[in-house]
Amino acid sequence: MKHPASRPLTAAARSGQRLLLLCLLLLGLTARAEEVKSPNGQLTLSFELQAGVPTYRLRYKGREVIKPSKLGLELKGTSSLQSGFTQTAAQQRSFDETWTPVWGESKTIRNHYNELAVTLTQAETQRTMRVRFRVFDDGLGFRYEFPRQPKLDYFTIKEERTQFALAGDHKAFWLPGDYDTQEYSTVTSKLSEVRGRMKAAVTGNASQTTFSPTGLQTPLMLKSQDGLYINIHEAALIDYSCMHLELNDQTMVLESHLTPDAVGDKGLIQTPANSPWRTIIVSDKAGDILLSKLVLNLNEPTKFKDVSWIKPVKYVGVWWEMITGKSTWSYTNMDNIKLDSVDYRKVKPNGTHGANNAHVKEYIDFAAQHGFDAVLVEGWNTGWEDWFGKHKDYVFDFVTPYPDFDVQELNRYAQSKNVRIIMHHETSGSVRNYERHLDTAFQFMNKYGYNAVKTGYVGDIVPLGHKHYDQWMINHYNYVLEKAAAHRIMVNGHEAVRPTGLSRTYPNLIGNEAARGTEYESFGGNNADHTTILPFTRLIGGPMDYTPGIFQTKVSAYNPQNTSFVHSTLARQLALYVTMYSPLQMAADLPETYNKHLDAFQFIKDVAVDWDDTKVLEAEPGDYITYARKAKGRSSWFVGSTCDENGRTSSIDLGFLEPGKKYVATIYADAPDAHYERNPQAYQIRKLNVTRKTKLTQRCAPGGGYAISLVEAGR
Ligand code: NOJ
Ligand code: CA
Repeated sequence: MKHPASRPLTAAARSGQRLLLLCLLLLGLTARAEEVKSPNGQLTLSFELQAGVPTYRLRYKGREVIKPSKLGLELKGTSSLQSGFTQTAAQQRSFDETWTPVWGESKTIRNHYNELAVTLTQAETQRTMRVRFRVFDDGLGFRYEFPRQPKLDYFTIKEERTQFALAGDHKAFWLPGDYDTQEYSTVTSKLSEVRGRMKAAVTGNASQTTFSPTGLQTPLMLKSQDGLYINIHEAALIDYSCMHLELNDQTMVLESHLTPDAVGDKGLIQTPANSPWRTIIVSDKAGDILLSKLVLNLNEPTKFKDVSWIKPVKYVGVWWEMITGKSTWSYTNMDNIKLDSVDYRKVKPNGTHGANNAHVKEYIDFAAQHGFDAVLVEGWNTGWEDWFGKHKDYVFDFVTPYPDFDVQELNRYAQSKNVRIIMHHETSGSVRNYERHLDTAFQFMNKYGYNAVKTGYVGDIVPLGHKHYDQWMINHYNYVLEKAAAHRIMVNGHEAVRPTGLSRTYPNLIGNEAARGTEYESFGGNNADHTTILPFTRLIGGPMDYTPGIFQTKVSAYNPQNTSFVHSTLARQLALYVTMYSPLQMAADLPETYNKHLDAFQFIKDVAVDWDDTKVLEAEPGDYITYARKAKGRSSWFVGSTCDENGRTSSIDLGFLEPGKKYVATIYADAPDAHYERNPQAYQIRKLNVTRKTKLTQRCAPGGGYAISLVEAGR
């Protein structure tokens, strides 16, 4: 197709163009640095064109957070958007709003920033791009904007070249760069040590496509030697590929590295378009990083008119028993079936199928008895015998149950007890197949009254060559969210891209996995400090379906062949309902185990999943986190504390409680001899009367923690 703007210019137009060029050049030469400060004046963003190259710099209380760093993009088959720019406009404005999330860590969220938008023109190519900066009290967001224009209609990104020039060899909490998974243990090291530790970091993990000895994922959490906490991530990842960071370990400059698609391209853009926001959260207090709402604020408000169907969910599930190997997702064995002609009513069952009518009813009864909203049932549908074998492009149709799972009756039974069944769509990575069935799958859910789906993308993506985090897949995840919303369905995506605050726009995105969850406690274990890091890294983008609540810490109790154990004390498992914020919380262990510890289980029953207010009482990434949260619409507060393998004494002040009120505190703590390896199930529960003047000290075992419920006296 001939480009409409490539027709020959007339002589008059040509001389006009030369004049414009000259003006732009002059403008460029006289361009001065632009500066904008955060509303409280503590952060300063400067923008400057250095010999035609756009650069920015960020300072916090006079300290360098990001040294002058280059901005721009390299394009495929045409000159780059990195240099030769003149500044043709610069606009500033201030913005201040308070909005109410559908669900969240606080009742309202303040979105307050000062903005600078710089328009840049390349005289030679007559292309224009804008860089928009928003400076909040807690950090900076900026993005590229490509207005619609004749000389920049559509283009292919070869690489985004956004730099983050760090001021030193910071301590980093990092995951190896990977286009397909974030299910790694976090490595804590200096940036200069990344290269040396990369190989070990990858070994033994679910690594698929690590791309470089110094490639890192976001959210990346950093701490400078002089005590600045810095978090780098992105917000509003829409129609663009997921950003990784490439570290230059000589200069300590991080540079964006986008996920390539099947042919190595990094994004197809048609103007008008915007990149996602690049985010830098910064503070000298670790707790401020946890409380930052910057990533959410950089997303667009939801356009959903009716959100009454979106509700936080506390659930149990036919799940951990399969993860541990006690039962199976599949109904029969592979030997018994031929995929193209199988009649499951005629094949021999394997006798270990978890999602059978009688067993699912036990879970429904348990959920109803203890006030849970829902039961997740995995392995309900045909195909699990060969779910990521060579037939995976056809294996699941998302509507055919195994013969021992009566969809209609089980949903009727559940709903008669005020419980919902959560649908499970494991796609086995075959996105083509999933999109083929999506409409009928969601209609099927509507028909039987399912209102939430857990999706899954295990294995290589089909069409082959695509990566879990490339632009095509990003568009798929967002397409599923939109389709689901049209059917009033909430989504919890596993193995999808890590969240970037999109739940502001799509509040039906109530959960994601996109990190190493509790399931790994059955696959060899998570590090004891894992939950002291995730809130600073993965959770910066949005909630995680971490699936806590494992009381039987020895996996062999369910499956003698499995020697894994949970790297946490039982008391700490309770704390996670408070420290791992999510509007979707699972009590992941088996009913038979909870029935043996009903006193501790009481905390899981009581804890809220939606909050009016959140405070960070203590925090240091990698070492400990203590949160206090006020239940939405209730006077109760809940405290959770998690610590690393060393154990510690936590000291907290209950000053967050309402003046003049008395509360009963129930403290679920590690017993004095508890230890995540040696004695994980030893806990103690005590009650005491407290007010906002009370100060508490509590010993946490190695790999331990505690949980407290604070209920107004007399309630
Ligand atoms: C991996 C998910 O994280 C897990 O929760 C699920 O049970 C399996 N895939 C099977 O879909
Ligand atoms: Ca530590």
